[in-house]
Amino acid sequence: MDTTPTTHPPAPTERPRYRPVEIAPETWVIQDTAGEDQPGPAVHMNSMLIRGAQPVVVDTGVPDNADRYFEDLFGLVDPADVRWVFVSHDDIDHYGNVGELMRLCPDATLVTSWFLCERLGSELDVAPTRWRWLDDGETLDVGDRTLSAIRPPLYDSPTTRGLFDPVTGVYWGSDCYACPVTTGTEFVDDLDPDEWAGGTGVFARWNSPWVDLVDRDRYAAECRRVEELPLRAIANTHGPTIGASDLARAHEIIRSAPDLVAPPQPGQADLDAMLAALRPGAA
Ligand SMILES: [Fe+2]
Ligand SMILES: [Fe+2]
Repeated sequence: MDTTPTTHPPAPTERPRYRPVEIAPETWVIQDTAGEDQPGPAVHMNSMLIRGAQPVVVDTGVPDNADRYFEDLFGLVDPADVRWVFVSHDDIDHYGNVGELMRLCPDATLVTSWFLCERLGSELDVAPTRWRWLDDGETLDVGDRTLSAIRPPLYDSPTTRGLFDPVTGVYWGSDCYACPVTTGTEFVDDLDPDEWAGGTGVFARWNSPWVDLVDRDRYAAECRRVEELPLRAIANTHGPTIGASDLARAHEIIRSAPDLVAPPQPGQADLDAMLAALRPGAA
């Protein structure tokens, strides 16, 4: 090991590279993570592709990973073949590259909703003539399958819809079912079960802090909308995919969210410590 002292600050860490993973036939999670170069846990920034008769892009990655996102996506599908682009909600980590994606995919229609378009306003760089509004509870015929928009039980935007594919049994949970990781992880069964349960609970409480206000019976009914689907896997933006053998446990964790206690989030003292570490010697 080279222990020569350096007079230069360390080079910026290269963002780790994770390749797409096929989680079901013709269905890929396009992987990315954020925060692996920072202290504390990282989160995935995933999106998905359903390469059916009419290929469907599900969420569109983050802008600071655009080059790799397009490389991964177009390594799996020709831009000319993409027919649908489903955006789960109006957060930048879900619609990040949508303008460029729609420019590159001339035959694609953006599957959005009235409220999503309202909330994004001029941020949504896609002509209304290319929109298709699909709200919670509605379906979309994509040629060889009919996808259902189903809101996950936990969310951080009122525009959120998940997406269920009855051909593969894959449900896209958007921000729900997420779990922080220390490094890119394809499936939750690669995690320690207790760490998975704890991380999912913390993510759930931090991302949906309203959940302890809900009527427990109404919330359980909302959870059942997903639980009672003929699921084989749940993929999501911010965590590893949940395979068939872990679905029951995932449902339990999400169902218990109203009664979980989340640790406090980092505060000013943590920010001070972080800034001091960046500027050694500063008062
Ligand atoms: Fe979100
Ligand atoms: Fe998100």
